[in-house]
Amino acid sequence: MSQQVINVQNVSKSVPIGTGKQSLKILHKVSLQASEGEFLSIVGPSGSGKSTLLHCMSGLSKPTEGAVSLLGVNPYKLRGSKTARFRREQIGFIFQSYNLVPALPAFDNIVLPLRLSGKKVNKAQVYDLLKEINFNANPNHFVSDLSGGEQQKVAIARVLMTNAKVIFADEPTGALDTVSSKIIFDLLRKLSTQGVLVVLVTHDIEMAAQTDKAITLRDGQLEAVIEHPTAQVLFEALNEEGS
Ligand SMILES: Nc1ncnc2c1ncn2[C@@H]1O[C@H](COP(=O)(O)OP(=O)(O)O)[C@@H](O)[C@H]1O
Ligand SMILES: [Mg+2]
Repeated sequence: MSQQVINVQNVSKSVPIGTGKQSLKILHKVSLQASEGEFLSIVGPSGSGKSTLLHCMSGLSKPTEGAVSLLGVNPYKLRGSKTARFRREQIGFIFQSYNLVPALPAFDNIVLPLRLSGKKVNKAQVYDLLKEINFNANPNHFVSDLSGGEQQKVAIARVLMTNAKVIFADEPTGALDTVSSKIIFDLLRKLSTQGVLVVLVTHDIEMAAQTDKAITLRDGQLEAVIEHPTAQVLFEALNEEGS
């Protein structure tokens, strides 16, 4: 049996709205588990809570209710520098909005986690990775001067350069062309075969159909857990009327 890496139990998330007296419930009692080496996808319509769930699962956003266990720890119980180190060294997060540092060149963005951890930066390795993912811009250019797709590749490379045990990828190919998307997907798949748990948020049914397990979300609720999904099964699951 492979080791369980994520255990999410009855996670709900509400955010304050308006004057703060009212709140909006974005996630409703979501539970799921995932193990090392698994390639898990989360699919659902826009606004169904995919990004919120990914943030809650990964230790970035504390749920209002419920429990999260990640690599055997409660990420919301870690304090100060332990939180920063845990995120930097164990977890890789590819943000839907990239979260790059605009005032730094692409190269520096990519190696920032390594530098913060005091690790040696192997320049050739970075350049090899950039070549592998078809990054054709100049790595010395500021990220603010790059196209959306190039920025997305920088955000991906930043995570791939670390030895994260869990990678959360929030629509990581949303800005990419078909060829680049396939390269990224294949890289994520390779990492999962090496034991990394990959959690991929996507609205691409064809892509989700190539993962090991798909979870469908609707209106913040987990609808189905589909083992070895096919495009047809996913299509039907997503087009059923919510109960
Ligand atoms: N901080 C927030 N304040 C208010 N509403 C939010 C906040 N974060 C997310 N939402 C709302 O919650 C819903 C789910 O958002 P999100 O998790 O980003 O969905 P998805 O990634 O599936 O598109 C959306 O309707 C979004 O507008
Ligand atoms: Mg999202």
